[in-house]
Amino acid sequence: MKPAAPLPELLLDKASNVPLFRQLYGAIKDAILGGQIKPGAQLPPSRSLATTLGVSRQTVVNAYAQLLAEGYFTCTVGKGSFVSLRLPVRHTPVRKRELQAVAPSEPPRLSDRARAFVGTHVALADQPGSARAFRTGMPALEAFPFDVWTRLSARRWRRPLLPLGYGDPSGFAPLRELLATHLQVSRGMRCAPEQIIVTTGAQQALSLVAMMLANGGDKVWVESPGYRGAAAAFQAAGLVTCPVGVDGEGLCVAHGAAQYPGAKLAYVTPSHQYPLGVTMSLERRMALIAWATQHKAWIVEDDYDSEYRYAGPVLASLQSLDRSGSVLYIGTLSKILFPGLRLGYLVVPPALVDAFRRGKAAVDRCTALMPQVVLADFIAGGHFHRHIKRTHALYDERRAVLVEALQRELGQRVAIGPSNAGLQLAVAFQGAVDDQAFADRATAKGIEVRALSTFYLDHATQARASGLLLGYSCVQPAHIRQSVAALRGVL
Ligand SMILES: Cc1ncc(COP(=O)(O)O)c(C=O)c1O
Repeated sequence: MKPAAPLPELLLDKASNVPLFRQLYGAIKDAILGGQIKPGAQLPPSRSLATTLGVSRQTVVNAYAQLLAEGYFTCTVGKGSFVSLRLPVRHTPVRKRELQAVAPSEPPRLSDRARAFVGTHVALADQPGSARAFRTGMPALEAFPFDVWTRLSARRWRRPLLPLGYGDPSGFAPLRELLATHLQVSRGMRCAPEQIIVTTGAQQALSLVAMMLANGGDKVWVESPGYRGAAAAFQAAGLVTCPVGVDGEGLCVAHGAAQYPGAKLAYVTPSHQYPLGVTMSLERRMALIAWATQHKAWIVEDDYDSEYRYAGPVLASLQSLDRSGSVLYIGTLSKILFPGLRLGYLVVPPALVDAFRRGKAAVDRCTALMPQVVLADFIAGGHFHRHIKRTHALYDERRAVLVEALQRELGQRVAIGPSNAGLQLAVAFQGAVDDQAFADRATAKGIEVRALSTFYLDHATQARASGLLLGYSCVQPAHIRQSVAALRGVL
């Protein structure tokens, strides 16, 4: 054994809320791993190190005990503590500061699959501040019955009612029953509870569909302009996203069929196209189903906000028209309740139920059970439908205020897109306006708007509308009026 070696400087911060023994343990461990204290070196007796550092002896004893337990030390009674000889010797000791300097220049060693994930344009935002004009996709939280939700949760947390084991990968059975009834009544769907898989938001449903139904390199039609979250899920799964245009009748099916006839999947938002807001015509729906049936392709119907329709005919879901079992239907609770809940669901054709159940189990066993249980109680108690009714009236008023303010303040300078459904509306600039520059200037003034041109997936060939997507559901009427007046200033 080597004689007791002088220790490097061990810096402890007495003002920190990390306990001193933890700090000392960390400092000695770093010094051992960094090569500053060599294998076999003897550590000073706890009493003398405590005096040197100005800490209690117990602090040193606790730090030594932790290092001993983790195998950094060996201890011989009557002789003292020694650095283990069995630790790997570092020939070139790397200090913390050197590590920090080296790390940024070295790309992380990622898999090809991970590179596909990292390369997507999915939003990473932890949305700052409270909801404000004109944040998209955000419900009116002030209208949410938190007291009811809290009461229902508290009741469920009281044992022994609580389901704390692993749940069914398809989701909490009573919730699936309730969702099936809701979909039959409100969306005209033919679906048994067994066909429903509860997911961690629509986003996980999109990922599952991509992974379960297509191989890497397969093509998927995506609406352009369209929802980047869907494109990201497909790209992350190694699929090739093929932009298909959208007009007043929704997705241009003939264009998709002519350009990408061999695609495996077609992603659509037929009830309320995201972001333009158009409703897909019946003729287009039939054409899409005919194409999918003929080519043995799948249709992914994202029905993200169909509960909110204020005027005009309500078209039943695409899934309800399909007789060939080609449609996978996706719903979310993000718009009706709130996005942080992370609950969504997938309705799969009967033939796919078992495969999707297993796929979902392999991804995360099951979606968190407690929110599902509370949601089931919330629906069964009638609160869900009451909340939809209340927010429907609220959003209807807010969209009317927004349309009126846009007409008054911006008049002929914008064309207002369909406003008969959803939580946001699109406006197109009449004349040449750089919508991204406009959005940046508005954001600098504290108004969140999203440039329509950023929703196009094919930057090279497609003529892009210049305009804005304005979310109104989370904004009070007075604030809507003020903010539109401020937008006129920006224009
Ligand atoms: C088109 C579309 N689909 C789905 C979602 C909801 O996704 P999630 O359930 O993952 O929150 C959104 C939310 O912005 C959306 O715009």
